[in-house]
Amino acid sequence: MVDSGSRQGEDSPVRRYLETLSDLSLRSLWNIVSNPAMLRVKLSSPPNSTSVDAASAVLPDTAREAIEESRLEYLREGIFFADLDKNMIEKRRRRSVNMPWHEFLYIVIRLSRPNVIFETGVFDGQSSSIILQALHRNARGLLVSVDLPAVEVIAGSTHRMGETSLPLGCQPGWAIPQHLRERHRLCLGDSKKLLPDLLRQFPVVDAFFHDSLHTFEHQDFEYRLAWRHLRPGGFLFSDDILWTPAFHKFCREQHRPYLRLGNFGATTK
Ligand SMILES: C[S@@+](CC[C@H](N)C(=O)[O-])C[C@H]1O[C@@H](n2cnc3c(N)ncnc32)[C@H](O)[C@@H]1O
Repeated sequence: MVDSGSRQGEDSPVRRYLETLSDLSLRSLWNIVSNPAMLRVKLSSPPNSTSVDAASAVLPDTAREAIEESRLEYLREGIFFADLDKNMIEKRRRRSVNMPWHEFLYIVIRLSRPNVIFETGVFDGQSSSIILQALHRNARGLLVSVDLPAVEVIAGSTHRMGETSLPLGCQPGWAIPQHLRERHRLCLGDSKKLLPDLLRQFPVVDAFFHDSLHTFEHQDFEYRLAWRHLRPGGFLFSDDILWTPAFHKFCREQHRPYLRLGNFGATTK
């Protein structure tokens, strides 16, 4: 894993600075102008990883062939994708999307065989479905998800998404294929209110995935609470780590390196 504070290769800081600036989209540029602390994060965050490289880094005792095989297994989950896409096409008029971090989540869950995973931010249920499909293949484990239903757009969370609210009349997780629901416990409400009590019920968790409200304060709250309940070696995952400096800062404080797959971050306790 790459240290969250280190520079890559022999790049000079000035060269890296210029390269970073030239790579920025208008949105990222605005993000930096409105929140200058993000410039430091952009400059010192680790380079983009592939799903296999990232999984190898967080599973150092697992052979790379096993990781590659697990990725292929994910890509070959034909019935799973057909079920998920059937639901998505019906309500969203499109198929599900495939991101490198989806493959990564599947691989890590298949190969680490967790008992309990927490997730905040469900929306249609695509990430929940992938986690549940990996648990289904493992034939063990429970996913506890928390979601404040986006009946309308939620600033700081769904406002940048292609679809900013749930389809009319649908509950969070509506797209999850039926056969995966027995390993799922879905709790509706603000994660800030629900998580403390839920984590008292599950004091030790193997993995925690933040994808709810991406304000600095909310991300920081979830990371800190989750960390106290993660087993040693457990996984902290977060989407949208480039929206605020929270993930980068948290990992530095814990002296934990992290990996980045686009806007998604992963570290181990
Ligand atoms: C980015 S979407 C989640 C996408 C999902 N993880 C996936 O990849 O398929 C963010 C979700 O967080 C929910 N949310 C926003 N604020 C929240 C809060 N305070 N507590 C819990 N969930 C929240 C939104 O309603 C939305 O469903």
